[in-house]
Amino acid sequence: MTERPSKKHPRSLSFETQSVHAGNSVDPGTGAIRTPLVLANSYALPEDPSEVSWSGTEVPLYTRNSGVNQIALQKKLAVLEGGEDAVVLASGVAALHSVFFTFLRSGDHIVVADVTYEATWRLFAEILPQKYGIRATFVDASDLSAVEAAVTPETKLIHVETIGNPTTKVTDIRAVADIAHRSGALLSVDSTFTPPPLYRPLADGADLVVHSLTKYINGHGDAMGGAVIGARELIDRIKADAMVDVGGVISPTNAWLIMRGSVTLPLRIRQHVASAARIAEFLEADPRIAYVAYPGLESHPQHELAERQFGGRGYGAVLAFALDGDPDLQNRFVANLEVITSAVSLGHDESLIVHVGTSGPRVAAYPEGFRTLGHLRLSVGLENVDDLLADIAAALDAVLPRA
Ligand SMILES: Cc1ncc(COP(=O)(O)O)c(C=O)c1O
Repeated sequence: MTERPSKKHPRSLSFETQSVHAGNSVDPGTGAIRTPLVLANSYALPEDPSEVSWSGTEVPLYTRNSGVNQIALQKKLAVLEGGEDAVVLASGVAALHSVFFTFLRSGDHIVVADVTYEATWRLFAEILPQKYGIRATFVDASDLSAVEAAVTPETKLIHVETIGNPTTKVTDIRAVADIAHRSGALLSVDSTFTPPPLYRPLADGADLVVHSLTKYINGHGDAMGGAVIGARELIDRIKADAMVDVGGVISPTNAWLIMRGSVTLPLRIRQHVASAARIAEFLEADPRIAYVAYPGLESHPQHELAERQFGGRGYGAVLAFALDGDPDLQNRFVANLEVITSAVSLGHDESLIVHVGTSGPRVAAYPEGFRTLGHLRLSVGLENVDDLLADIAAALDAVLPRA
């Protein structure tokens, strides 16, 4: 089968076209027009293997170094995020850990946003300091002078989330990148809540972008993965240190599923953010709701920053809120929902809600409503928004009937 030359030069095309074509090519073996799922662990060696780098990542050799589906997904994600290269791993947490493992060593210091995904917080509050002597300072990353003040000569990395999980606090990536670079540190940004085309942190100066592919980029709630995107030199180091020698690789099946899921990313994101904005406004207007945190609302403390940073393309599709009442009321509200599912995770096709209480060491950094009432984290899915609004309204009426 002869390979047809491709006229689809993804980097010069629009995001929608890139989402369809980037990373994909005609399979030279079968002529299939999309990269097939290749489950083999090993790839044929050349007749003289003496030149082969056994721990290299450039040619298909072994799935822990470079499998066909993993390579295709890496190429695609690099294009979608506007980076030189990408590494994909087994989960978002594996991707986060790969950054910390590769770029930090004993005695180093990191500045971390005080609102981050739970596993990031635990790594820096407990595991990395206790096991490896890596020191972390947690800061309110929306306070630039606090970020600047936290940097020391030992600071090697600043790590933030574009929109923090769960409070939706927004970080000014360009400003924090400037602070990091003035002190010779790298900036890594978890952009799971704001996948492209919503936002591309590399364009604002981030050095590394991390995604839980499990969320929007796959989008269908059926495959787990993580990615780091950035300059080739940095990604090469992650591949060599944290992929080949730690081994948290993505399975070919998950890489293939995420490749397929990401085709509809631009269409899905448009719907996710439009529905989330409607629901946030609906909740904010209801007196039975104690608070709503969503960067698209004018009441959000970083609304103007979010508007500027995300360029009017939307404010993500995760919101946090609480009913005016005790934990039992929040639970009963969730139990009365019929369309929205009570489950962890976010960025799936179906809307997911999870009730998180007021206990736990991280809560001290959260705004008052979160601390006193807990929160319901709602990931707005792709159902018709009127069905979602009706579901929420019916559950509210069931637990807090209007007078
Ligand atoms: C912002 C953020 N980063 C990383 C992760 C971890 O991703 P994974 O569950 O794929 O390991 C999550 C999971 O919820 C998340 O919300």
